Amino acid sequence: MKITVIGAGNVGATCADVLAYREVAQEVILLDIKEGVAEGKALDIWQKSPITMYDTRSVGVTNDYEKTANSEVVVITSGIPRKPGMSRDDLIQTNAGIVKSVTENVIKHSPNAIIIVVSNPLDVMTYQAHISSGFDRTKVMGMAGILDTARYKAFLASELNLSPKDIQAVLMGGHGDTMVPLPRYTTVGGIPVTELIDSEKLNQIVERTKKGGGELVKLMGTSAWYAPGAAAAQMVEAIVKNQRRVFPVCVKLAGEYGIDDCYLGIPVVLGKNGIVKFIELELNDEEMKLVEVSRSHVKEVMSVLEGMAHA
Ligand code: NAI
Ligand code: 2OP
Repeated sequence: MKITVIGAGNVGATCADVLAYREVAQEVILLDIKEGVAEGKALDIWQKSPITMYDTRSVGVTNDYEKTANSEVVVITSGIPRKPGMSRDDLIQTNAGIVKSVTENVIKHSPNAIIIVVSNPLDVMTYQAHISSGFDRTKVMGMAGILDTARYKAFLASELNLSPKDIQAVLMGGHGDTMVPLPRYTTVGGIPVTELIDSEKLNQIVERTKKGGGELVKLMGTSAWYAPGAAAAQMVEAIVKNQRRVFPVCVKLAGEYGIDDCYLGIPVVLGKNGIVKFIELELNDEEMKLVEVSRSHVKEVMSVLEGMAHA
C-alpha cells in the first residue's frame, strides 16, 4: 500500500518520516518540484530505518506523478509557509494555484485517493482541493484540528504539570485566530478541566492556543513542522488502519451545526474510506456564537478564492 506526500519541505518531510517509522504503509512517496530535495530526504528517511527499525520504503521524486499512482491517501503540504507578520490568509494567491495544479495531477494518477490538505490558509485550501478534485466531501479533508488541539493539550499539561496523554479535548472552527477550543469538552483523566484549573488561567491557555501558530512563526521565522507533520500522519494512520478515531478535522459542512457550504473544523470519525461520521455536538449559545464568528471569517477568505481566476 502506498501513501504520497506532496511537498518535501518541513511539514511534508516530517510527515513522511512519521509515516515510515510508524510503518503506516509499505511505501511512502515524497514529491517536490525542487530537483533532488524529495529524493534526498526520502533517502535519508530510508537510511534511518536500520537505526529506528522499520520496513517502510520512502522514495523521493521530482514532480513525477506517475510514481504516485494508486496511492491510498495523498497529503498535500506544498505551498509557501508563513513568515513573521503574515497571516495564514496572506498565502492564498500563491498556495491556491499550487494546490489546484497538485490536486489535478494527484487525481489523474490516484482517482480513488483520500486527500488530506495541510497547505494554508487551511480551510480554504481544502475547499480548493475539493473543487479541483470533484471528490465527495468524505474524501477531501484538512489537517488543523489535531494540531491546534495538541497545542491546547500541551499548554494544559505544562500548566497542570500532568501527562499530556491524559488530556482529552475538542476544538472547532477554522484554522486561524478565531478557532474555538471548547473547555466544556476538555477532560483530564476523565475529570472536567474546570475542576482542576481556574477560569482566568484556562482563558489564557485558550487565547494562547488560538495564536499558537503565530507564536512559533515569531520564534523561528517560519511556521512549525514537527507537530503539524505528525498530526497529518496520524490522520493517514487512522484512515489506512480503519481505526475509527475521533479527531477534529476540517470538513465541508452540509447542514451540520446549521452551516452549509463552508469548510470548517468539527469532530469526525476517521476510518476506511475517509470520514465515516460527522459528529454534531450540542453546543450552547455562547459556543455556537464563537463557531459562527469563525465561520464568517473562513467565508470571507473563501470569497477571495472564489473571486480569483483559477478557483
Ligand atoms: P516549506 O517551504 O518547508 O515546504 C513547502 C514545499 O512545497 C517546498 O519544498 C516547495 O518546493 C514545495 N512545493 C511548492 N510548490 C510545489 C508544487 N507545485 N508541487 C510540489 N511541491 C511544491 O513549507 P512547510 O513549512 O512545509 O509548510 C507547508 C505548508 O503547510 C504551508 O502552506 C504552511 O503554511 C502549511 N502549514 C499548515 C499547517 C496546518 O496546521 N494546516 C501547519 C504548518 C504549516
Ligand atoms: C501553524 O498553525 C502556521 O498553520 C501553521 O503552525
